[in-house]
Amino acid sequence: MLSGRTTLAKFLVEQLRGHTGQHDLVSLLNNVANAVKTISSMVSKGALDGNLGSLGTENAQGEIQKKLDVLTNEVMLGNCEWSGQLCGMASEEMATPYPIPQQYPQGEYLLVFDPLDGSSNIDINMSVGTIFSILRNATDAAPSEQSYLQAGAKQLAAGYALYGPATMLVLTLGQGTHCFTLNRESGHFVLTHPNLKMPAHTSEFAINTSNARFWEPPVARYVKECKEGASGPMGRDFNMRWIASMVAEVHRILMRGGIFMYPRGGKDAALPDRLRLLYEANPMAMLIEQAGGMATTGRQRILDIPPQQLHQRVPVILGSSNEVKRIIRYHTEHDNGIDRPFVSPLFQERSLFTQDC
Ligand code: F6P
Ligand code: MN
Repeated sequence: MLSGRTTLAKFLVEQLRGHTGQHDLVSLLNNVANAVKTISSMVSKGALDGNLGSLGTENAQGEIQKKLDVLTNEVMLGNCEWSGQLCGMASEEMATPYPIPQQYPQGEYLLVFDPLDGSSNIDINMSVGTIFSILRNATDAAPSEQSYLQAGAKQLAAGYALYGPATMLVLTLGQGTHCFTLNRESGHFVLTHPNLKMPAHTSEFAINTSNARFWEPPVARYVKECKEGASGPMGRDFNMRWIASMVAEVHRILMRGGIFMYPRGGKDAALPDRLRLLYEANPMAMLIEQAGGMATTGRQRILDIPPQQLHQRVPVILGSSNEVKRIIRYHTEHDNGIDRPFVSPLFQERSLFTQDC
């Protein structure tokens, strides 16, 4: 008995009523929700089914694949390929896009996903998630890799599932960000947090500080000021959080505000940026913006980036708008040379007038 509560199925029909040409998103999103329920049940079994641990293979980006990375990818493909809304799918776990098999009807949408985000957490029973984004194939022709390279502003829908103590599905169709909780008894996703609005102000930041020596000066400046707390320019104390699972981090920020940063600069010089644009940064940026927050690289709105490659990585700074604006300002000041004391070029190391001569 649902006692008058709104299920995901009812919500989708109501949100998309009157949106000509988008009604078949209802079936597609129901399929995504079914995949998510299967993944929720798989990850909740922990070590019982022998699915934990690594496979010994690498994904398209050279990362060691967990067994569950591959299994959850198959669950997403299997649940979404057959019903006629899609003409292709792309995922973190596949080097190239997956065409819908010829035996199934072809649709006009593209589904892009990270089937198990934060999967380094899976072996230690910490929160993980699934992130997804829906785009329209711009032409009637079968999609090529190029077809997926659309700016995030063109997403028709985006969302994630969080497999935490409760399984939650957080979704936007461009009209607010809405959060559903899985009722395991009935099998329904129930709308529990409609129209999330995150606070503009926060005193909580999330960043992997073990990369501090590689950060660019504007990010280093911001984090230094957070750590200085009430005795620095912020004038108030901050808390820090790091779960190492983007879905869990973004969920906390949507619920109570905060700022999440995976900025440029990591330990692997060949990979200066960590998070992937199409199936991590873009869907999260849309969800955050729809809840009143902001998402940027520090220099550009995430949703405006024209993608160059399927697995392209970008710096990500997202969350409460006042703090994101402050970090954008720090980037601008740095790029214009006004965040540090002026030093005359006459007295630089290589000039005729070095200061110690
Ligand atoms: O998908 C990448 C990811 O697992 C994110 O979910 C998470 O935010 C990040 O990597 C964790 O990175 P690190 O290992 O540097 O803490
Ligand atoms: Mn991920």
